[in-house]
Amino acid sequence: MTQDLFDDQLDPVLLPLGPGAVVLRRFATADESALLDAVRQVIEQAPLRHMVTPGGFRMSVAMTNCGDLGWVSDPTGYRYDPTDPQSGKAWPRMPDVFARLATEAASHAGFEGFVPDACLVNRYEPGARLSLHQDRNERDYGQPIVSVSIGIPAVFLFGGAARSHKSQRVPLEHGDVVVWGGPARLHYHGVLPLKEAEHPLTGACRFNLTFRCAG
Ligand code: SIN
Ligand code: FE2
Repeated sequence: MTQDLFDDQLDPVLLPLGPGAVVLRRFATADESALLDAVRQVIEQAPLRHMVTPGGFRMSVAMTNCGDLGWVSDPTGYRYDPTDPQSGKAWPRMPDVFARLATEAASHAGFEGFVPDACLVNRYEPGARLSLHQDRNERDYGQPIVSVSIGIPAVFLFGGAARSHKSQRVPLEHGDVVVWGGPARLHYHGVLPLKEAEHPLTGACRFNLTFRCAG
């Protein structure tokens, strides 16, 4: 097979990061227009905002949520909240295209029956970053995390069970989906500062959708 055929193939390429963690390269590309339409609808109902960490820092990533529960940070701590504190209303319902993609990606990664109740929508502009952290505000660590990249590239840091473990640098592109669960569920992860770039569908930004079973 020539390299061209590899580049054009529609089947996702499964890249293991370690036990319980994989990148499904380009898994979301086929749904890109529907996903972006849905992102825009969510943002219209629950605008992106820069949350403040419990330590008092304004996050460089702009965030919003959809689904039954939304991840919220403020000076009192991190939590999942059924209402958007900015509007006092419920978060927008999770678009069907989001839920379907998350369930399919989890299943490809070996986690059957994943039905997320929370989707964090992150927007990274060049320079935005997410420091190394664990996702540990969810009730059931038996369920994986599914993370979808849309737009300009980023370098994902995937570490181990302790903050001190060395992280892998995983380049993520438009359409890539990372799934981690089982023995990797509480692994540290983060995103390096984004470089300047343009994507035909998003301009100079990256959206990341993080799906979780939170409640
Ligand atoms: C996250 O850890 O919540 C987001 C990761 C990413 O943007 O790829
Ligand atoms: Fe995370």
